[in-house]
Amino acid sequence: MSAVEHSVPTPDVARRVFGDHVDRAEEFVDFLVNRGVVRGVIGPREIDRLWGRHVLNSAVLSERIPDAARVIDVGSGGGFPGIPLAIARPDVDVVLLEPMARRIDWLHEVVDRLELSNVTVVRGRAEEKAARKEVGTADVVTARAVAPLGKLARWCLPLVRRDGELLALKGESAGEEIERDAQQIRSAGGFDPVVVRCGEGALERPTTVVRIHKRVRVDQSQGQFRRKCP
Ligand SMILES: C[S@@+](CC[C@H](N)C(=O)[O-])C[C@H]1O[C@@H](n2cnc3c(N)ncnc32)[C@H](O)[C@@H]1O
Repeated sequence: MSAVEHSVPTPDVARRVFGDHVDRAEEFVDFLVNRGVVRGVIGPREIDRLWGRHVLNSAVLSERIPDAARVIDVGSGGGFPGIPLAIARPDVDVVLLEPMARRIDWLHEVVDRLELSNVTVVRGRAEEKAARKEVGTADVVTARAVAPLGKLARWCLPLVRRDGELLALKGESAGEEIERDAQQIRSAGGFDPVVVRCGEGALERPTTVVRIHKRVRVDQSQGQFRRKCP
């Protein structure tokens, strides 16, 4: 962008959420407004709610990410929640996993433009063997608007390391999804699914997240309790 054709005002809460990194978040928003819409990665009607509904809604996830963690964001699309998270938390390594070529090109451009040295872009589907091999495992796997919870658990839990967790950004029906897909979550190796809210006290509408731990099973074969990955 040689000149910013359009810009949206930065809400005060963005400075609280992004701290010293707010300039980079603003640059991402400007890039989305001026390039993302024509490239089809964000709808024109989203512009007025880019900060609240997309950028801040994603960035507040950072309160649930441990220091220096490795994160895989499955189905990043235009970069959510992975890019705002990587901007807010330069200590965290973020892998963006996305199958669509057009979106992969966009994500590479964003990473280059914002000089996000903590982000890697990988093309593939979470359930594919080759993609799984390439991305490995992470402390936390994130996903927003990618699939129903049961399917998401099946796709994403194999990417979660032992004792790690899946954070699925969901809407108000998150609790119902947990009940409906409980069996699928269990058989995918997930346990203790709960709804948590991120951004409380900062966002008008905190982000609703389903947190699922990766199951570790108890192995008594050695005469003592030992936690072991399935
Ligand atoms: C509705 S978009 C959401 C994009 C972004 N997470 C957001 O919230 O704006 C769903 C994205 O998931 C990707 N996707 C669908 N199936 C996938 C899979 N099996 N593995 C990884 N990504 C997938 C799609 O290509 C698409 O970019």
